[in-house]
Amino acid sequence: MIEQAALIIQLGGLVAFPTETVYGLGADAMNEEAVQKIFQAKGRPADNPLIVHVNSLEMLHRVASEINDIANTLIEKFCPGPLTLVLRRRPEVAPTVSAGLQTVAVRMPNHPVALALIEKADTPIAAPSANSSGKPSPTSALHVLYDLDERIEMILDGGSTNIGIESTVLDITRNVPMILRLGWITQEMIAETIGEVRQAISESELKRSPGTRYRHYSPRARVVLLENVSAAFIHKFCTDLLKTEIVGLISKTPVFIDDSRFSSILLEDNPVDYARQIYAALRELDEKNPGVIVVEGISEKGEGAAVMDRLKRAASEFHRE
Ligand code: TXA
Ligand code: MG
Repeated sequence: MIEQAALIIQLGGLVAFPTETVYGLGADAMNEEAVQKIFQAKGRPADNPLIVHVNSLEMLHRVASEINDIANTLIEKFCPGPLTLVLRRRPEVAPTVSAGLQTVAVRMPNHPVALALIEKADTPIAAPSANSSGKPSPTSALHVLYDLDERIEMILDGGSTNIGIESTVLDITRNVPMILRLGWITQEMIAETIGEVRQAISESELKRSPGTRYRHYSPRARVVLLENVSAAFIHKFCTDLLKTEIVGLISKTPVFIDDSRFSSILLEDNPVDYARQIYAALRELDEKNPGVIVVEGISEKGEGAAVMDRLKRAASEFHRE
């Protein structure tokens, strides 16, 4: 299977593969034509650059330059793992990977299938999350199949992914490193390793990570995020919505409503469980064609910050295309 998948990559085709975060949709990062197929398959806006996946320091040096002490410290501590570093790009990388930027985002996934695929293909693999643009990222091979079936050559099935939300994206090309996307590697963990690190907040800062401008992680139904509310509040909120529409609920608080148009998924009150299951839960409830999916938030402490970042984006009307 891996041999076949590697051959498809070498021939300029698309292969979906598991990583420890979410499934990726991979193509040879050095082959411009192959990379363009990713954008077509996903319906991805052309100005949203891709993450390049490598399996070794040697391969990292094929795509990025100016790999400084900060980069090396972070690599030693977090690679392989869910941390993506934005570095200066080498000219050999297919231009569309960087969407016109002078930088390239690189990570080393901590997953045996992903690493074996890169090793066999012997080329860096550009891979965004393997969902249709705007949808929740895929955490199982079935999710990929559902979104992209006819458009890709092959899916490597590695079961459900372990972490469940995408990697932290950290830009280290600036004076003070900046987190462009929150993820499993938290700001505190990075600060402990390299000292000062900032989190992008302003619009101009976010322009550095074009992907954060688009609608993301959203099922067909609209998503409403509730924070710091009681069981009684959630019950009343959903009951009111049920007067006019089908309702889905994802919560850490058990809520029982006896109505066939109501479906709920209960998660444990911690970031591990939420991250691992949130995208699958959104997809599962969406199958029932609800008008709305209500999601109960969790604490933003530690890894919870990344989970809440995704939920806020899923619930935001603001960035809808
Ligand atoms: O966990 C992950 O990161 C997954 C797995 C498959 O590795 N990949 C993933 O890729 O989430 P994607 O394409 O869905 O998200 C890539 C993010 C986007 O927000 C994009 O804007 C940002 O990384 N990005 C990529 N290249 C960049 C660059 N050169 N400068 C700034 N941001 C960049
Ligand atoms: Mg994505």
